[in-house]
Amino acid sequence: MTTDLSTTYLGLSLRTPIVASAGPYTRDLDHARQLAEAGMSALVLPSLFEEEILHEENELTSALDALAGTNAEATDFFPDDVFERFDSPADRYLEHIEAVKAAVDVPVIASLNAGSHGAWTSYARLIASAGADALELNLYHVAADPDRTGHDVEQADEFLVGEIAKLMEIPVAVKVSPFYSSMANMARRFVDAGAAGLVLFNRFYQPDLDPDSREVRPTLELSSPWELRLPLRWIALLRPALPEVSLAATTGIESGRDVAKALLVGADVAMMTSAVLRHGPDHVRRVEREFVEWATEHEYDSVAQLRGSVSAANTEHPDAFERANYVRTLHSYTLN
Ligand SMILES: Cc1cc2nc3c(=O)[nH]c(=O)nc-3n(C[C@H](O)[C@H](O)[C@H](O)COP(=O)(O)O)c2cc1C
Repeated sequence: MTTDLSTTYLGLSLRTPIVASAGPYTRDLDHARQLAEAGMSALVLPSLFEEEILHEENELTSALDALAGTNAEATDFFPDDVFERFDSPADRYLEHIEAVKAAVDVPVIASLNAGSHGAWTSYARLIASAGADALELNLYHVAADPDRTGHDVEQADEFLVGEIAKLMEIPVAVKVSPFYSSMANMARRFVDAGAAGLVLFNRFYQPDLDPDSREVRPTLELSSPWELRLPLRWIALLRPALPEVSLAATTGIESGRDVAKALLVGADVAMMTSAVLRHGPDHVRRVEREFVEWATEHEYDSVAQLRGSVSAANTEHPDAFERANYVRTLHSYTLN
């Protein structure tokens, strides 16, 4: 018997639950095509960053101001090419959406990295008109301002999600941080604000310090499979609380068994970047094959059947996801 691999994510029907998360491979058209050919059932494009849009707007304003200054007689006249002289990241992003959409026959999800609400949010609309099937709102910020309370940060994030979701005619997923003090409450607030899906979790990169030069060095290390445990716990806890919302697992998906784990706790899709960067696009075929082998061995007929079957609502020991047998785990360590 063949396993029915189909799943639904953000209202999109996908052939399998294996999706490419935002990363360098989906930035490049040829690589995006290779990923789709290897079996990725949807592609998330790298983020368009709020800073890029704001920087571009500032540059354009300065140039227009300068031109206005040199042409005091006709301050509203500007050469036609003034807008074209800016190699606009936002325009290039919209062109990339169109190009990837034309090149692959799987859904394409655009990504917007946002820190705050502002005039730039109207770019979200352009993303939809460029043909993206959905938008992933990547919330990536570090709450370093001592004057802002946790409540301030949460409210700002919730407001931003609400504003973007209101603007969009396509579904919006939110790629969230694991660092909210009440993750479950924030998850529900994002859904109430209009998010159709949650992507768990954004992976925060920690800068390193060179003690000799005293330079702070941004570092990027690819993930390891053990890092999947954080999204696993939270998807298991959130699935029963938010039965209707789409949940995507991201971080540490390396093999077909990892895909199985993500789905068992309640994810609709499992996303990959690091594994593909390590092994190349063909790795996707292997992950799908391993997943099918696992599902066959355990006699699952479909993804729908196995999804959430070990969430906190369906497991015998839901507290294992909460305290993770904290005391027993600590006491189980034996000294040599
Ligand atoms: C080089 C690189 C670039 C990335 N760029 C983005 C990005 O633009 N937007 C985003 O939301 N995530 C980005 N990510 C994060 C990935 O989408 C993914 O969430 C993260 O790598 C964890 O998944 P993994 O363990 O499969 O790598 C990037 C990751 C890598 C390694």
